[in-house]
Amino acid sequence: MDLWFHSIRICWWRVLFLMSVFQDYLSSMLDCPPTCSCSQTEIYCNKSDNGRFFPLLALQDTGSNGTSVDIAELFKNITSIHIENWTGLQTLRDVDMELYTGLQRLTIMNCNLRVIQARAFAQNPHIRYMRLEGVVFDCGCDIRWIQLWQQRGEAGLHTQQLYCKNGASKIRLHNMYIHNCDLPEISVSHSSVLVMEGDNVTVSCNGSGSPLPEVDWTVSGLHSINTHLSNVYWPNIHSINLTLFNISRDDNNFQLTCIAENVVGMTNSSIQLNVQFPPVILRLAEPEQRHDTCIEFTVRGYPHPKLRWFYMQKEILQNDYIRTDMDFYQDYLEGCLTFQNPTHINNGNYTLEASNPLGTVTKTVYGHFLMAPDMDEKVPSTPSDGDSGRPDEDTFGVSIAVGLAGFACVLLLVLFVLINKYGRRSKFGMKGPVAVISGEEDSASPLHHVNHGIITPCTLDAGPDAVVIGMTRIPVVENPQYFRHGHNCNKPTTRKSLDP
Ligand SMILES: *[C@@H]1O[C@H](CO)[C@@H](O)[C@H](O)[C@H]1NC(C)=O
Ligand SMILES: *[C@@H]1O[C@H](CO)[C@@H](O)[C@H](O)[C@H]1NC(C)=O
Ligand SMILES: *[C@@H]1O[C@H](CO)[C@@H](O)[C@H](O)[C@H]1NC(C)=O
Ligand SMILES: *[C@@H]1O[C@H](CO)[C@@H](O)[C@H](O)[C@H]1NC(C)=O
Ligand SMILES: *[C@@H]1O[C@H](CO)[C@@H](O)[C@H](O)[C@H]1NC(C)=O
Ligand SMILES: *[C@@H]1O[C@H](CO)[C@@H](O)[C@H](O)[C@H]1NC(C)=O
Ligand SMILES: *[C@@H]1O[C@H](CO)[C@@H](O)[C@H](O)[C@H]1NC(C)=O
Ligand SMILES: *[C@@H]1O[C@H](CO)[C@@H](O)[C@H](O)[C@H]1NC(C)=O
Ligand SMILES: *[C@@H]1O[C@H](CO)[C@@H](O)[C@H](O)[C@H]1NC(C)=O
Ligand SMILES: *[C@@H]1O[C@H](CO)[C@@H](O)[C@H](O)[C@H]1NC(C)=O
Repeated sequence: MDLWFHSIRICWWRVLFLMSVFQDYLSSMLDCPPTCSCSQTEIYCNKSDNGRFFPLLALQDTGSNGTSVDIAELFKNITSIHIENWTGLQTLRDVDMELYTGLQRLTIMNCNLRVIQARAFAQNPHIRYMRLEGVVFDCGCDIRWIQLWQQRGEAGLHTQQLYCKNGASKIRLHNMYIHNCDLPEISVSHSSVLVMEGDNVTVSCNGSGSPLPEVDWTVSGLHSINTHLSNVYWPNIHSINLTLFNISRDDNNFQLTCIAENVVGMTNSSIQLNVQFPPVILRLAEPEQRHDTCIEFTVRGYPHPKLRWFYMQKEILQNDYIRTDMDFYQDYLEGCLTFQNPTHINNGNYTLEASNPLGTVTKTVYGHFLMAPDMDEKVPSTPSDGDSGRPDEDTFGVSIAVGLAGFACVLLLVLFVLINKYGRRSKFGMKGPVAVISGEEDSASPLHHVNHGIITPCTLDAGPDAVVIGMTRIPVVENPQYFRHGHNCNKPTTRKSLDP
């Protein structure tokens, strides 16, 4: 009675679990089976239990926010499961393990385990160690896969003594021999196929062996319409023809995989599909300034098209200034026609030609790099009148000249005064002026001296149209605003302050 009730309870938890996986709104939380202790990464069941099913984290409706994503992660985080003295556990089924996708260690001790289904660990790629202590299997083809794992040394099984019961006698699994019980063999009709877009093609796969394997082509992700035709050549060949109709270019490089599987295990074999189609230019963009300037393109075609560029009816030969950089991704070619420091001379129409044995396409883009230099200069000068049309550099040059002349002037004056004053001290004569000069040179700008000097151009009676260089006036053709303000008089102003 207790056992029956317990099984019902576990079943109910499972139902609850499945419901919540498929219905996000059922908020739930995982709960540890009653005879186990659980942590984030481990389920440890060392109390006797007569449950017939593998322990599954049960679900408890808590009305909180758990989503199916979190549940999958909870299961995935379990890396270790230990089960001891579960007398009711006789069969480990494939569905028992499939949620624990992160499982690494499994221990089953002193249970009445007799069968582990062949696909039980299909979803547990990380399993590294399996300890099966006190397990006695039923000898037969169903556990032949464990014998193969043991022979191959997978999951540490080769270090353990495993047994199976053949009627009344218990033998080592190592010594079990089962007739007609082997991995399937597989043969496919091609190693690769080369077809044209729009063609039809049939490939064939034979899975043979006993037990007679299931055979199938995996076509998920395939774009072309396809049909499977299955045929069995008794006693031991299962053959499947896969026909693809109106083959799409999107299936170029697709791996057609055939899988043959029986209770002993799975084998597979693949055919590479190559689809030929004429080139297309998917993208040809206007020049874009990056590290260098780039006309970006994307071309598609198989076999990979050959690219040529034309400018003014002439093919562009690759050189240091213009070159093609590109990458291949499957049947895509992506890259740049790269220009180093292009100027207005490079402006014009650029034509890309892509060709493969199935065809040729061209596309043209107008490359606009820089304006012609004369156009560049006319723009600012047009609004001003004739005299003030000089470029910036001259203004700056005049200011510098004024500054330097003033500085020289002041320096001479200071020297003159100092020599007069200290000239008669023969031994230390040079010290004074040297110190003064070196001290002054610490300041950031040579024009600095002018403001601290005895005479600056500003303190002289300089009219708006004249500037003082040395002690003479020279007329200035520049805009007089540069020299109007006393404190700024030696700093060249920017052109912007000129504009009304
Ligand atoms: C089960 O394991 C826990 C912790 O590992 C331990 O404390 C407890 O004694 C064990 N129970 C039995 C019956 O061995
Ligand atoms: C449910 O989750 C959302 C965010 O995922 C959170 O804002 C909200 O408070 C949660 N509600 C409860 C009842 O936990
Ligand atoms: C699973 O483990 C990761 C890191 O190991 C942790 O960040 C995450 O919170 C865990 N998830 C759950 C549901 O415990
Ligand atoms: C498991 O069962 C055996 C006998 O069936 C018993 O001797 C042993 O103590 C049990 N172990 C635990 C951990 O309960
Ligand atoms: C599959 O088996 C049949 C029957 O023996 C044979 O005619 C055919 O060539 C085989 N095909 C392949 C791809 O091995
Ligand atoms: C591909 O098969 C379809 C349907 O059998 C047929 O109509 C079509 O003509 C075939 N195409 C080629 C290129 O053979
Ligand atoms: C499968 O295709 C091969 C040729 O590829 C053909 O000889 C064979 O008859 C086809 N099998 C079936 C069942 O249509
Ligand atoms: C073949 O596929 C192309 C697109 O992939 C489609 O335009 C064309 O109509 C298809 N041809 C047939 C006969 O179905
Ligand atoms: C094919 O078999 C290899 C090992 O034999 C395996 O790694 C691979 O995942 C299998 N491929 C498929 C699609 O099952
Ligand atoms: C570039 O091509 C366009 C049309 O494709 C044409 O109108 C234009 O005149 C061409 N420019 C030059 C400089 O050849």
